[in-house]
Amino acid sequence: MAKTYNIAAMGGDGTGPEVLAEGIKVLKAVAPKFDIKLNFTDFDFGGERYMRTGEVLPPNAADELKQFDAIYLGAIGHPDVKPGILEKGILLKLRFDLDQYINLRPVKLYPGVETPLAGKKPEDIDYVVVRENTGGIYTGTGGITMKDTPHEVAVQSGVYNRFQVDRCLKYAFELAQKRNKDKTLALCGKTNVLTFMYDLWERAFHEMGDKDFKDIKRDYYHVDATCMWMVKNPEWFDVIVTGNLFGDIITDLGAMTQGGMGIAAGGNINPDGVSMFEPIGGSAPKYTGKNVINPMAAIAAGQMMMDTLGETKMAEKIEDAIIEVVSTKMKSMSAGKMGYSTTEVGDLVAEIAAS
Ligand code: IPM
Ligand code: MN
Repeated sequence: MAKTYNIAAMGGDGTGPEVLAEGIKVLKAVAPKFDIKLNFTDFDFGGERYMRTGEVLPPNAADELKQFDAIYLGAIGHPDVKPGILEKGILLKLRFDLDQYINLRPVKLYPGVETPLAGKKPEDIDYVVVRENTGGIYTGTGGITMKDTPHEVAVQSGVYNRFQVDRCLKYAFELAQKRNKDKTLALCGKTNVLTFMYDLWERAFHEMGDKDFKDIKRDYYHVDATCMWMVKNPEWFDVIVTGNLFGDIITDLGAMTQGGMGIAAGGNINPDGVSMFEPIGGSAPKYTGKNVINPMAAIAAGQMMMDTLGETKMAEKIEDAIIEVVSTKMKSMSAGKMGYSTTEVGDLVAEIAAS
């Protein structure tokens, strides 16, 4: 009997719905091969809905989404809405409310894809960033006083507790064990300045490593140096673990080294609950409706979703098709330069993956 998964589909803003449609096309084309049935239910959360109704997210949204096996997201961010409202009110709220405490962001260069790192090959750029996803400076702790006076004060605190740090580290160590690479976990921090926050991370890292993960080699890099080595020696990395803000920043750098936002996917993961998968680039409003945006990141997010749901064979089949299309068909990963339209890229991957 076919296994059924119920997926919440949130196209969101800008090019989000276009790229998500291609991801869904691919998933629907491949699922029957693996005797899998996928039911997609649309949610209209995003800027348009907010401007129409004045409501960012219905109060029961998280509870409703908890009924699904996974959430498949296009992009959040609308040019007519002040920055922060939708990002905090939808994306971050769902990450927090659904306790998606891991943001998993693979940095993997596929054959035939151009990287700005001279001389680096697919075997050199293949690692995963585990970004803590529910804490740090993203919690919104802080405030402004004496606003609009010359003495205005703004405070925004990075907050971590041991529980948050430990559960993130555990996930990262286990991932390093599971991956077939160097069995190396690198902590990316800033222990020379953030002497409270990353002191906690560093102590927890070594305590856990000594106790439970003796088979995993441990490295430590400050965040600035991490950026340097991600460019100069990306082959050093296997799994990188870091806090929320550093993870946000270094994964945009990582995405560029793997060919850009057109190909970079991420998963907001709650290992015991409902996870949400998304292309990590934004809503790219200027390309909206033009059928030129690269849907590969959304397709790759769909692949991650199936992998996380335990459908590893189906995920592998999609990844193989992605590799074939990026390495033998597409001219570029950039919008408008792919040699194909958005829908044609979706068609190509769907056809190959379903064959
Ligand atoms: C990301 C994005 C978000 C983040 C924004 C849109 C809030 O940049 O997913 O990386 O900072 O986490
Ligand atoms: Mn980001």
